[in-house]
Amino acid sequence: MQDEIITLRVVRRDAHTDEITVIDLAAEDGGELPAFEAGAHIDIHLDDGMIRQYSLSNAPHERHRYRLGVLLDPASRGGSQAVHERMHEGTEVKVSVPRNLFPLDESSPHSVLVGGGIGITPMIAMAYSLQADGRSFELHYCSRSREKAAFIDELEQTFGDALVLHFDDGEPSQRLDIEAVLTDQQPGTHLYVCGPTGFMDWVIGAAQQVGWPKNRVHSEYFSAEVDTSGAAFEVEALASGVTVQVEENMSIAQALKAAGVQVNVSCEEGVCGTCICDVEEGIPDHRDHFLSDEEKADNDQIAVCCSRAKTPRLVIDI
Ligand code: FES
Repeated sequence: MQDEIITLRVVRRDAHTDEITVIDLAAEDGGELPAFEAGAHIDIHLDDGMIRQYSLSNAPHERHRYRLGVLLDPASRGGSQAVHERMHEGTEVKVSVPRNLFPLDESSPHSVLVGGGIGITPMIAMAYSLQADGRSFELHYCSRSREKAAFIDELEQTFGDALVLHFDDGEPSQRLDIEAVLTDQQPGTHLYVCGPTGFMDWVIGAAQQVGWPKNRVHSEYFSAEVDTSGAAFEVEALASGVTVQVEENMSIAQALKAAGVQVNVSCEEGVCGTCICDVEEGIPDHRDHFLSDEEKADNDQIAVCCSRAKTPRLVIDI
């Protein structure tokens, strides 16, 4: 999955908190950018081959800029640090055109948007889109404290009563009671959630607990723990004519790259879908957060950056 690459320039950079920097990208000539929908992200291509995904957080009707919120994550593998250190006003940046893996449902009578920490970014674009279309929504923003929350002034000014803030250090009564929020919603309401993995699992678990159908719960993981533990297995890369042994604590992508096979990867955490390959033989042990439960059950695709095999041998189309 290789998208068209365009060159943009950082035209504005603001530190919203001590950890979150908000960056505006625009075309070099100030012209219109490729359109995007709420929920879309772009890939930022860093000099050393690193590719990182960032959700677009501005109003989708804007064509003059892409706005990103970048958390300096101490646990990151260098991507967020590189963005913080290298992307200053005037810096040229190569990015993919926007891609949307987290779209809004057009038919929903009401939408519940829940953002945890930096997971608020796609929710902001969704709220702008719903507001512009005159559709009903509520936007819940969970943060450790007001000081740690980016975009606060913009959100308060723009979304009024539709915005509900929840701070970990605030009064217990303002903390997010997710089961209460999800109970007694009107039929057909859709839930959208983005944030740290534990936060998302908590919200999605609560939705299951109160009986929400899976097709009305939408989520986007922006990072995930990768678990490559388990027995070694063999992978034949059909198109490349190469067979490799994938040892424990090694990914299929790493084993293939070591054997000289070109493998497209981006997040390397099973969340972006860049590395998905077709499976011709064998049964994958799916460990990604990208494929749906139905797609995983079909066992005909695999995320080679993190998933393993339930059979001693896999044949994949790469
Ligand atoms: Fe992102 Fe594998 S590289 S899912």
